[in-house]
Amino acid sequence: MSNRTLTILKPDCVRKNLIGAVTKHVEEAGFKILAMKLVKLTKAEAEGFYGVHRGRPFFEELTTFMSSGPCVPMILEKENAVAAFRTLIGATNPANADEGTIRRLYADSVGENIIHGSDSDENALIEGNYFFPGMELAGNW
Ligand code: CMP
Repeated sequence: MSNRTLTILKPDCVRKNLIGAVTKHVEEAGFKILAMKLVKLTKAEAEGFYGVHRGRPFFEELTTFMSSGPCVPMILEKENAVAAFRTLIGATNPANADEGTIRRLYADSVGENIIHGSDSDENALIEGNYFFPGMELAGNW
């Protein structure tokens, strides 16, 4: 069990001026923000990040959307971070997400679902390094 996860506030979150509102949920749930930035991915970068989904029917739509505007990746810390964060954000499809979860509160559709959360400790490390390479070496925390 690792204590870190990687999230992205997706382009719909940024477009809807929800960075503050969503980040408030994240902090109030006890996550510490270890790294954070605003970046606009190229199509190729979005394809690289979501490489595990290459070949899936939604891959083109997903990577076009994720490169459609700025997004906010963050590395978060909390005990049992991956599972705790997935509980906080709710199901991938906001229609199936529990009451009070971030996706239920703010997301419109499975494609535009406001926020990403790593699905395993292994992927949290890979995804964290994708946006913040060398962070482990920075020695600030
Ligand atoms: P995320 O947790 O970022 O990981 C992969 C993303 O693919 C997922 O959130 C959804 O936003 C997106 N996606 C789009 N269509 C689908 C679909 N039909 N099934 C699953 N994920 C989808």
